[in-house]
Amino acid sequence: MKILVLNGPNLNMLGIREPKIYGKNSFADLLALLDQTAREAGVEVTQYQSNHEGSLVDAIQEAYGKYDGIVINPGAYTHTSVAILDALKAVSIPAVEVHISDVDAREPFRQISYAGMACVKTIKGQGLEGYRQAILFLKDYLKK
Ligand code: DQA
Repeated sequence: MKILVLNGPNLNMLGIREPKIYGKNSFADLLALLDQTAREAGVEVTQYQSNHEGSLVDAIQEAYGKYDGIVINPGAYTHTSVAILDALKAVSIPAVEVHISDVDAREPFRQISYAGMACVKTIKGQGLEGYRQAILFLKDYLKK
């Protein structure tokens, strides 16, 4: 089973970026957590991060026929990108949306998620642990 984890803008700044909201763990810590989860779950996990909307759209399109599931934290593009929503719909790969923070408890503009409209589940406010939950959820979901 192959899972693609996509991270949008500024997620590479984890640990430096607003630690009170996103925590003190670094992006390298997130990559280590993904590797560990992949080993535990017996799935293949590939991670891609980009600060560019079109690059994320390209990565979703390129996943077609190659990946069984997608875990996506589109960062700020969550709340603006119809292009990412359309790409997820175009490839029809089961996707889980992850947000490190509890977006529903923050500014009103963070309470709309376009990408989420094409996702089978949203996990928010669980910190980096949310990525682990998303991979484990997708593993079960894809088995069914
Ligand atoms: C985020 C929440 C978004 O609103 C924000 O723009 C991000 C990170 C999260 O993981 O909590 O970049 O997706």
